[in-house]
Amino acid sequence: MKSIYSVAIDGPAGAGKSTIAKSVSKELGVIYVDTGAMYRAMALYLIREGVDADDAEAISKKCETADISIDFIDGVQQVILNGENVSGLIRTEEVSAMASRSSANPDVRAKLVELQRKLAAEKSVVMDGRDIGTVVLPQAEVKIYLTASSAVRAKRRYDELVAKGEQCDLAQIEADIIERDRRDMTREISPLKQADDAVLVDTSDLGIEEVKNELLSIIKEKVG
Ligand code: DC
Repeated sequence: MKSIYSVAIDGPAGAGKSTIAKSVSKELGVIYVDTGAMYRAMALYLIREGVDADDAEAISKKCETADISIDFIDGVQQVILNGENVSGLIRTEEVSAMASRSSANPDVRAKLVELQRKLAAEKSVVMDGRDIGTVVLPQAEVKIYLTASSAVRAKRRYDELVAKGEQCDLAQIEADIIERDRRDMTREISPLKQADDAVLVDTSDLGIEEVKNELLSIIKEKVG
């Protein structure tokens, strides 16, 4: 096995990237880097600062005063915004919506891509996001594009929310997912797309264990 290697996992929201990336990284004994959490921390900062999601100039300006870094507690990634651990505050719908829009900003991307590359240069990583195999780590030893149908992704999200006791509408969740995919796939910089050399894994009809085993066997084949 190589001493330092990177596994890039890209794909749309709800395909199971973070669940799978977490368990695969644990199995491999390497760190898991959740890049979506960085875009979410930046979005939280913009919300707190009262920045309009359509004001590109203001978003770029705020990049100068947002210090985003990550830390690990018991192997679990924590995202730090200007010294504050905001990991528990970034999973709201409001933050999701702002992250989806502000992540299209080139200054936001440049800032966070730099941090992501630095992490991968220091240690072996399993990194998930939208542009890891295409832009952030084009030399990654392993690239996976994880996807699932919008109906399956919506149902997974619906089940999660129902389990938390929240009221929700399946059709609305699927509509939101389709809209987010459209935005992530059509933005000008770093749109979500499968890298030419990525392996496509469709999780629509697979359980977590099956996907995990499939990825581990792809990784083994590529890095030994
Ligand atoms: O994976 P997530 O839902 O936590 O990501 C939050 C938002 O950040 C999502 O709209 C896509 C964006 N994102 C991105 O543009 N590039 C990445 N590498 C990761 C996430």
